[in-house]
Amino acid sequence: MTAAVRTPDTSSDAFEIREIPGVLGAEVIGLDLSQPLPESDFLRIRRTLAERQVVVVRGQGDLTPEQHIAFSRRFGPLEIHIQHHFHLAGHPEILVVSNVIENGKPIGLADAGRYWHSDLSYMALPSLGSLLHAREIPEGAGDTLFASLAAAYEALPEETQRRLQTLTAEHGYAARNRAQQAVTGQLRPGLTAEQEAKVPPVIHPVVRVHPETGRPSLFISEGFTSRIVELPEEESRALLAELFAHSIQDRFIYRHRWRPDDLVIWDNRQGIHLATGVPPDVRRTLYRTTVQGDKPQGIATA
Ligand code: OGA
Ligand code: MN
Repeated sequence: MTAAVRTPDTSSDAFEIREIPGVLGAEVIGLDLSQPLPESDFLRIRRTLAERQVVVVRGQGDLTPEQHIAFSRRFGPLEIHIQHHFHLAGHPEILVVSNVIENGKPIGLADAGRYWHSDLSYMALPSLGSLLHAREIPEGAGDTLFASLAAAYEALPEETQRRLQTLTAEHGYAARNRAQQAVTGQLRPGLTAEQEAKVPPVIHPVVRVHPETGRPSLFISEGFTSRIVELPEEESRALLAELFAHSIQDRFIYRHRWRPDDLVIWDNRQGIHLATGVPPDVRRTLYRTTVQGDKPQGIATA
């Protein structure tokens, strides 16, 4: 019998990472991202993101947009969102998520994520992850739900898993934007032909393997996945509906209740999320950066 080897922990003990009970989520306490962060500490955060999908960093009230952007860039190149009306002035890397109306105009995307989705799954290179910084948070409303699609995949019968590994699905933004416009009206602008041309539908594997952990997960969402390429329409619709319903069971979900100084980082490669929304008479504003990811890889099938 060999004793467990203790590798010396060279990273700072200045902050603590606590797992949130359940299949996903971790909370970081005692970290101030407005201060320089040594690489070893950054790697701790990145590893936690890969392992737990959602990392809630508490107490980031002092973080400026510049610092938010600089920290986000450590994960990879940042995306500039197609909804350019809602970029933060002077900082196109930040998408304003807000229901606030100023001078008759919405200052942000009011209905961001009011359907289950993984950010930018409709791109050829979908997002690695997003970092959402609370700016103005109402009490007791506006929770965000996160579902683990890795846990959802693991809970499927092996035969279903094997079948899903052979399938690919189409993801698209334009159709969703139109559907959402019908619900939200003029708060959500339509896309110009030029914008629409930038987001043609793309095909991704239904099961993707996480590039850092090797863990497989579903990669579909009600928001952006329109069909399974290999199946006839009816069968595709039925299978997607079944998988969507399976994925959003309570046992796969973490409900985030926002605190005013939270920065929440999530991994878009292994899960989906949903904004539960707020009543129109309360103000809610958050700033989002979105990190570009790699091309989703399926499980090699022999
Ligand atoms: C997003 C998003 C959810 C929320 O910004 O990508 O889905 O609760 N937001 O604001
Ligand atoms: Mn989102």
